[in-house]
Amino acid sequence: MQVEAHAKLNLTLDVLGRRPDGYHDLRMVMQSIELADLLDLSYTNTGELRVSTNLHFLPNNEKNLAAQAALRWYESAVVQNPGKWDTEDLKRSVNFDGLDVTIEKHIPVCAGLGGGSSDAAAVLRALNLMEDACLSPEAVASIGALVGSDVPYCVIGGTALAEGRGEILTPLPPLPRCWAVLCKPEFSISTPALFAKIDSVRLRCRPDTKGVIAALEAGDLAGVSRRMYNVFEDALPERQRTRVNDIKNTLIQCGALGASMSGTGPTAFGLFDSEDKAREAWERLREFGGEVFLAQTV
Ligand code: C5P
Repeated sequence: MQVEAHAKLNLTLDVLGRRPDGYHDLRMVMQSIELADLLDLSYTNTGELRVSTNLHFLPNNEKNLAAQAALRWYESAVVQNPGKWDTEDLKRSVNFDGLDVTIEKHIPVCAGLGGGSSDAAAVLRALNLMEDACLSPEAVASIGALVGSDVPYCVIGGTALAEGRGEILTPLPPLPRCWAVLCKPEFSISTPALFAKIDSVRLRCRPDTKGVIAALEAGDLAGVSRRMYNVFEDALPERQRTRVNDIKNTLIQCGALGASMSGTGPTAFGLFDSEDKAREAWERLREFGGEVFLAQTV
């Protein structure tokens, strides 16, 4: 089975506080875009779970979130919906003969675009279909929460509010279809390190999440775009913050309706209501280096 794993953008990202379990309570408006990895899942008789990608530096063992997703699936799917499984199914799913997952990466890695989480979500969605398990999207998302905080959203996709660790999801009215231009600068950011730093940073500004939701309800793309904000921008080291700001300024100069950073970065993006302006921004940013993408929202 072949499946696509879409990248996500954070239209807003707010950190509400640190929790006793060490994670942080978040409030974020998320949006899927067309930029996607391609996954191919096939049963084998090797007795092994094998993951391979076209990027040599990505793990092909359990450290890969796609492999973790498959393992959590075989542990959880049976438990979640016992009535649906007979003994043969159970034997087949627990002592499976082998599974190969091949991932063609297009989403940049460690970029704040949820690439690894989306691959994991795609594995879960595919296994739900391949095994004819008929778990609801919510049940699949709850298995995803065992793999990573962004995985439940990646199972559902579209436009959604994510709260708690990221696993409490409320679908929102879809963002009016538009073009996103993304630029991932040359450096990468460690998500745990930035989360650790945010506790000691005095946040200058918080996103207007309610305003973004009201704008979505009104179908007001410009209203959403000008309210986009991500508190992690304040936690970036000076040089990296300057680079992200330069990208955002270029996007705005080229006619973006708004610009922000996605996730824990470092990818910055802008939203456009005109394909011509988006293409111009894409060309301008390519002159400055980094990985630059033009994608429609999904
Ligand atoms: O859940 P996930 O493994 O994707 O999270 C990666 C890291 O990000 C965690 O180890 C934690 O440091 C941080 N995190 C957090 N609060 C969240 C989500 C992630 O502190 N809600």
